[in-house]
Amino acid sequence: MVKRLRMNSRLFIFVRLLINRSMSKTNDVGCTISQGNEGYTDEKLISPSATRNKDPILQVLKRFIISDTDQIDDESPLFLEISSGTGQHVSHFAPHFPGVKFQPSEVDKTLFKSISYYASSCSTNNINQPIFIDIQNKLSYYGFEEGSVDYMFNANMMHISPYECTIGLFENAGVYLKPEALMITYGPYSKDGVITPQSNISFHASLKSRNPMWGIRDINDLVKLAEDNNLSLIDTVEMPANNMTLIWKKD
Ligand SMILES: C[S@@+](CC[C@H](N)C(=O)[O-])C[C@H]1O[C@@H](n2cnc3c(N)ncnc32)[C@H](O)[C@@H]1O
Repeated sequence: MVKRLRMNSRLFIFVRLLINRSMSKTNDVGCTISQGNEGYTDEKLISPSATRNKDPILQVLKRFIISDTDQIDDESPLFLEISSGTGQHVSHFAPHFPGVKFQPSEVDKTLFKSISYYASSCSTNNINQPIFIDIQNKLSYYGFEEGSVDYMFNANMMHISPYECTIGLFENAGVYLKPEALMITYGPYSKDGVITPQSNISFHASLKSRNPMWGIRDINDLVKLAEDNNLSLIDTVEMPANNMTLIWKKD
């Protein structure tokens, strides 16, 4: 009897370990994030990929976002970022568009401290504190009104989350962007069902092995999804490291 109890408790511990491992895997959404080591507090997280791509993305944004404060009417345009990660992107963009209000968001609340750190350190003071958004839900759950968002931005989420998140992103853009407003997405994409080059093929395979619901999305599928949600692809920009920035416009 004692032996069986011991066996059961060992089995219980083993099962718990397995569950914990899979939970931490679920939380690991593929961002390699480290704590800041440049004399900042522990709250500041650094994603090496965001560090590398934030400036190339900024150069694209400068072509599409109104930065001249004289051209902006009464209220600051709202730039809503979905899945802000560490918060590095908004903090890099915001000082270049002082007339725009940046709203970071995350589904992973453990990242709020870092996003908040970056938001509070912004010299132009135009970044709101992060809010919780699971993009699979309607933005009205989080207090947004239809047709109220001027820009939506999303980097590196579509391939590293179930396709429902991509659907949610486009459905929300279709409803909550103002007419003729833009959604800008960044990441690796395939074209006509073909993934190139080999590094992206390997990346896609590694994503699938970690979670069969993840994977590089095809631009053709996204264009169909966009059309179903009154959005059109108006520009594609090749980016370093075989990524792309896609510009979507609400009809
Ligand atoms: C690879 S990280 C990218 C983070 C950041 N955008 C960047 O480029 O550094 C993927 C992000 O997608 C977010 N994410 C996953 N599922 C989500 C969901 N359902 N709604 C919103 N964000 C989600 C994760 O929390 C994570 O921050």
